[in-house]
Amino acid sequence: MTAASRGYPDLHDHLETLKKKNLLVTVDEQIDKDAELHPLVRWQFVGGLPESERKAFLFTNVVDGKGRKYEMPVVVGAIAANREIYSVGMGASVEDIQAKWDHAIAHPIDPRVVNDAPCHEVIVEGKDLEGEGHGLDMLTIPISTPGFDSSPTLTATNVITRDPDTLIQNMGTYRAALKAPDRLVVRMATRVGGAGGFQHYLKHQKRGDKTMPCAIVLGCPPSVAFMGPQKLPIDMDEFKVAGGLVGAPINVVRARTVDLLVPAEAEVVIEGLIDTEYLEPEAPFGESHGHVALEEYNMPMRITAITHRRNAIIPSYISQVAPSESSVIKRVAYEPLFLTHLRDTLSIKGVKKVSLHEPLTGLLRVTMITIEKGMPRTEIWRALHGAAFFKGDMSKICIAMNEDIDPDNADAILWAMAYRMDPVKDVETVKHRGQGHGPKRESDDDEDSTLLMDATMKGDFPPLALPTKPYMERAKDIWDRLGLPKLRPQPPWYGYSLGDWLPEWDQAAERAATGRYLENGRISAQYRKKGIKPETKFRPDNPEG
Ligand SMILES: Cc1cc2nc3c(=O)[nH]c(=O)nc-3n(C[C@H](O)[C@H](O)[C@H](O)COP(=O)(O)O)c2cc1C
Repeated sequence: MTAASRGYPDLHDHLETLKKKNLLVTVDEQIDKDAELHPLVRWQFVGGLPESERKAFLFTNVVDGKGRKYEMPVVVGAIAANREIYSVGMGASVEDIQAKWDHAIAHPIDPRVVNDAPCHEVIVEGKDLEGEGHGLDMLTIPISTPGFDSSPTLTATNVITRDPDTLIQNMGTYRAALKAPDRLVVRMATRVGGAGGFQHYLKHQKRGDKTMPCAIVLGCPPSVAFMGPQKLPIDMDEFKVAGGLVGAPINVVRARTVDLLVPAEAEVVIEGLIDTEYLEPEAPFGESHGHVALEEYNMPMRITAITHRRNAIIPSYISQVAPSESSVIKRVAYEPLFLTHLRDTLSIKGVKKVSLHEPLTGLLRVTMITIEKGMPRTEIWRALHGAAFFKGDMSKICIAMNEDIDPDNADAILWAMAYRMDPVKDVETVKHRGQGHGPKRESDDDEDSTLLMDATMKGDFPPLALPTKPYMERAKDIWDRLGLPKLRPQPPWYGYSLGDWLPEWDQAAERAATGRYLENGRISAQYRKKGIKPETKFRPDNPEG
């Protein structure tokens, strides 16, 4: 089946498109998945490259730390090394991603159950799951943070569980540590706003079930992969929303040994039973909050089958310190939810954009709200409170600012806070926030708090004192013609009005920039005045003031 006949691309189709767009680097040189693979891709996040230059990396010749060769290639960054790669998977431009999410959530499409599925081309069950080099140990699973992690860990997962009462499935991206060829340990967050799968686990425990059926999918079609990290209500079946994203039903097939539906075009499906009685230590593992998660008890899963495509490719997400593939995939998914919540659910019409701060803070802690200039103060504060309490584990620090501030530029944010905010009037702290996702999970009884800041302009300001856009553009042409180093313009790179500016000053500036400043001198001479203090304001629209 082709992407066109199916109605959506699978991972293989997606990689072909990335290759055509020069967004995929293929590494045929032998790479050690335990010590070299993730550190190599990590360089594109810590090596000073702009986001636009990041690529997906396909490794075709992989060995482990003992030199054992693996058959299945590994791809890192294929879903979200940057926004452009994500937008290829979405089949939409970066600007249209918000609208695509809004539409998919509002117009879900039921999946189609098929009997014959590529993910069942090879089936490994029973005794074949046991022993070194078999079962999970045949899968090319890299170590994410060599030097800290204690096992190869599945990161690019869509973990499927089912509510035993409603029979509605949930799909989340949760990590899983390999422990034996037929055993792994899954980590489902127990905090408020954590894993939907954990709620299913609690229900199974309550019913007295000793196990919970689970399917861990690796290498979903991109539209389905996007559902793993997305924060949708627990009873919203993610296959339907994925269908809404592509405008076609997603093909699903019944798993072999557990009663769950899995994506038919998946690369690999790991089926098994999660123990609801015993837990087993898992980690250390480098976490998406940027610190190493220390060992803790999580959920062991006994593998009952591994099914895969004959030509399976294993995806792995680079996560840990942001920016990372994990932070891009979440950012592009979560920002639209926040904007829709503030603009449509709370009807705060002046809200233009919500940005989750990414580098190091990793999206969960700092939320920037871009608000139209001149919005009533009460609406600004409704937006601040609305964003702060939309998700239980996000937005510890919320900052409201105007459209001229680039939320990805910390210097610009500090500039707005420094000149547009009066700490006594424009800052509030609110008690009783949960600790959320962070390195202090060991002390999760402690409460945290919330910081809200209104760094919007409270009135008109004089212009930003850079040459206006036409002068900067004219000079850029000269710069380029002179063959000087390539420029990477950083907003704000030209001056603009911030409200306090008069047409008379525009005219004077025009005269000055065309060599006619003497005319300006003749005009100002007419307004000479005595008996006043230096630095007394003069406004040419009201010269007598
Ligand atoms: C690379 C990556 C790894 C993640 N690891 C975990 C994890 O181990 N446990 C967890 O509960 N959430 C993890 N998350 C976050 C969840 O995927 C996210 O909260 C999502 O909303 C879960 O889906 P659910 O709401 O259907 O449970 C991870 C996300 C990404 C992108």
